[in-house]
Amino acid sequence: MFAVAAEPIAADKKMQYRHLLDQARALFEGESDSLANAANLAALLYHGLPELNWAGFYFRRGTDLVLGPFQGRPACVRIPLGSGVCGTAAHRGEVQCVTDVNAFPGHIACDAHSRSEIVIPLRRGGEVIGVLDLDSPKLARFDAQDESGLTALAALWLEMSRTAV
Ligand code: SME
Repeated sequence: MFAVAAEPIAADKKMQYRHLLDQARALFEGESDSLANAANLAALLYHGLPELNWAGFYFRRGTDLVLGPFQGRPACVRIPLGSGVCGTAAHRGEVQCVTDVNAFPGHIACDAHSRSEIVIPLRRGGEVIGVLDLDSPKLARFDAQDESGLTALAALWLEMSRTAV
């Protein structure tokens, strides 16, 4: 067994993400189950990053995204591709970094406390298989450093997790 310190450890975002990558590597080591690794990554992010009210996955099922492992309040189960922040990220295959969710047309409010959001598409073999979604009760919580840190964590999850989701 190993211990993972699941609390914010540094004010500096670069350091936070370096530390989270190390922790994620340790959690994924020797484990290729995609759902187990997604569950642990959601917990690591939710408890490891400050000012979040939701962190988790949606996976593609045909023309919808369907809720996967997450931490936070219960969330919308099914999101059509192209709808909301998650569906837009999956449909376009592009990160959506939203400083004010109320200004995003079609934003889906699963939790009325959410003010900003970042969604990272998960690509395997050129296809978007799902998204990693983080919400915050703080306006403009996410920036380019979060985008690059979370993209690296998502890439690590994709590399280590080999089972179908
Ligand atoms: N706000 C998202 C829905 C998912 S929840 O935030 C967990 C959206 O607009 O797609």
